Amino acid sequence: TRVAVLFGGRSAEHAISCVSAGSVMAAMDPERYEVVPVGITREGGWVLHDGAGLTIEGGRLPEVTGGASVALVGDPAGRGLLRLGDDAPVIGVDVVLPVLHGAYGEDGTVQGLLEMSGLPYVGSGVFASAASMDKEFTKKLLTAAGIEQGDHVVLRDAAGALTTDPAALTQEQRDRLGLPVFVKPSRAGSSIGITKVADWADFDAAVATAAAVDTKVVVEAAVAGREVECGVLAAVDGGLPDTSLPAEIKLKAGVDWYDFDAKYLDDAVDFDVPADLTPEQTAAVQEVSRRAYLALDCRGLARVDFFLGTDPATGADRLVVNEVNTMPGFTPISMFPRMWAASGVPYPELVDRLVAGALT
Ligand code: DAL
Ligand code: MG
Repeated sequence: TRVAVLFGGRSAEHAISCVSAGSVMAAMDPERYEVVPVGITREGGWVLHDGAGLTIEGGRLPEVTGGASVALVGDPAGRGLLRLGDDAPVIGVDVVLPVLHGAYGEDGTVQGLLEMSGLPYVGSGVFASAASMDKEFTKKLLTAAGIEQGDHVVLRDAAGALTTDPAALTQEQRDRLGLPVFVKPSRAGSSIGITKVADWADFDAAVATAAAVDTKVVVEAAVAGREVECGVLAAVDGGLPDTSLPAEIKLKAGVDWYDFDAKYLDDAVDFDVPADLTPEQTAAVQEVSRRAYLALDCRGLARVDFFLGTDPATGADRLVVNEVNTMPGFTPISMFPRMWAASGVPYPELVDRLVAGALT
């Protein structure tokens, strides 16, 4: 099976995508897969890559730079073909594995290109990708499906248009959300552009930071609770999707929150895989993960991120979905492959299932 692995890309998560792809390609059995590594530069150019150097070394993040150009070309039979190099012949590809995070990769754009080209690809389609990438619409759709969300406000003006004016958050809304708040670009990942604001005096700067990443800014109330994640994977037989054992992210002493550096660069977190939960808590996390995946029309895979807290009124568990990632991180320390390994699906088999799912 010839698999084109796409990575890098125009998003702020370029480097993380490179590391994810390096890790995925290392898990692909060369006897079974002919891997065509296709890097996408920060400018959006598609280049043939040798697949090497896709790791974080001493805090240095990898990047796709030059290479022979790769073009996706249509053919009259409606199959997608790749031209590897300017004067090279075109080759057919059986499936595309877009290991892309964030804008122009996880948001439905590349999925639309692949749909139009007739190329089968791993993961969610156009709508689920776009809906899951945008925190505002993820929350709307999950709320409509009866899945609890944290309190939040999207910055819009009186007419309802998006704005990046911090004054759009009214005093009433500030009182309601309370401090701290998390100010986030609506369509981004890996905590890029996010600021935890503990004093309203810092709010305007936080909005500017988020607005540098996205024109849509979301202000979220902090949700007290443990940070728990769960993997969802399409079933082999086409039935209801499978869910992994959940994992927990535990910040080390002195670490304020799970930001980009804590995620990838600093030795700032302990990952508990699987999480130390009661059987009832595990079942609840898995059940809500499956419902969230289905509510968003996800396909193939997703990772659902939660806060597991306590309802102050009743003392019962309170499970709040933070977000849904349609192409979760696959770096060597990333939760998604580790949760599946802990659930009896080792990394190579995970890749097999993803590729097989794209071909059915
Ligand atoms: N957006 C990053 C890659 C994640 O969710 O794992
Ligand atoms: Mg994310």
